[in-house]
Amino acid sequence: MDELHTAASERAATAHPGPRRVVVGVAGSIAAYKAPFIIRLLRQAGHEVKVVATESALRFIGAPALAAVSGQTVSTGVFDDPAAVEHVAVAEWADLVLVAPASADLLARVRAGRADDMLTATILTSQAPVILAPAMHTQMWLNPATRDNVSVLRERGLRVIEPDSGRLTGKDSGLGRLPEPEQIVSRALAVLQQVRGKEGKEGAAVEQGEGGSLLKGRHVVVSAGGTREPIDPVRYLGNRSSGRQGLALAVAAVEQGARVTLVQAHVASELLDALPPEVTVVTAGTAHDMLHAVREAARDADAVIMAAAVADYRPVNVAATKIKKQVPTASDRVSGPTMSIELTTNPDILAGLVSDPPRAAQVVVGFAAETGDDDGDALFHGRAKARRKGAHLLAVNAVGEDLGFGDVPNAVVVLDAQGSEVARGQGSKTEVARLLISLTAELVNGS
Ligand code: C5P
Repeated sequence: MDELHTAASERAATAHPGPRRVVVGVAGSIAAYKAPFIIRLLRQAGHEVKVVATESALRFIGAPALAAVSGQTVSTGVFDDPAAVEHVAVAEWADLVLVAPASADLLARVRAGRADDMLTATILTSQAPVILAPAMHTQMWLNPATRDNVSVLRERGLRVIEPDSGRLTGKDSGLGRLPEPEQIVSRALAVLQQVRGKEGKEGAAVEQGEGGSLLKGRHVVVSAGGTREPIDPVRYLGNRSSGRQGLALAVAAVEQGARVTLVQAHVASELLDALPPEVTVVTAGTAHDMLHAVREAARDADAVIMAAAVADYRPVNVAATKIKKQVPTASDRVSGPTMSIELTTNPDILAGLVSDPPRAAQVVVGFAAETGDDDGDALFHGRAKARRKGAHLLAVNAVGEDLGFGDVPNAVVVLDAQGSEVARGQGSKTEVARLLISLTAELVNGS
């Protein structure tokens, strides 16, 4: 969390998506007092801000304060200036709608498609991305009604920021606190990075570093992140994959004109928010979820690139309740009791795509992080894996060993299904991604 927070603060300070127009919605929560800080940070980053507040928000914070800090009058009711049809004008003006704080009531109204005040009417009308930063008491946030509202809103593509845990109004503390303004603004700036400004303002939809058309009109599926296999309701078997290599592949495929479906497991939402709009994100938590999501997306795909770290094993039994810690007896005071979890093998998604392709003539690409041992070096094991899995391309990445490049963290040797070397690449994740995408495109285009 700390790491995430630091990265977020750094981006808040450095991101420059160019001037954009942000509607800041303020709903009725005590956290409304933080809205001026959010507005100020957005304006400091060079953006124009228009505040739309609900009636109850104005019981917590005065319209003059919001107007002064945003530099524009505050809109509240749809009947304030009927002739101007203000909700339509404001909705069309916005490059982004950021509601902070979003109360439980506001979430419910947006979910229901209500348009009973200026803020809900603006959200319903706007075509711009919407970020909701909820703030409420823990019980309200955890109530099944709110959980359901949040999940429906997320399914519809609205971004709902997770609230923080900490001091709430009064003496209590818990989950439901509005995240710090820097965190919220950092999230907003990440979304603005991919929004093209209105009226021909310079946009940054994709950093078109190596733009081309090698995959124009093609559909590419990329998996990213690391699956988590549940042990009980609170524990899981997981891995350290950040998903960055998969995201770099998705962006590199878009640079070449592809439509991309990214099947992601536990990739930080801040990284996902920075993806270009050509990437459709599908979420899969476990290896089984990923198997189904990848095969479904792959039905009309020209290429599938498996960059996710998929758990090889999962617990045979998932406990319905939290497994209790065993209390040490007098005899095992020194080392304590041991416990074991029985594991079973997960399906190999990559191998399955080769042996039972969802679509004919589909190009399948995999990754293999290898280490050398007494039997052979990383490349030796990579060649054996390439032959075993049968993918058209396998990018072998030697972990803790160089492959003749020196100490380069992202060095890959790309092998074909026979284990023969096709190419070598090194550099940033973006550079490795561009190499793999150009090799994939060659196979897709049959050259
Ligand atoms: O066997 P290993 O895990 O090293 O293989 C890595 C490659 O296989 C990656 O492309 C990974 O996404 C894929 N994989 C898979 N299903 C698994 C395990 C790995 O698709 N169960």
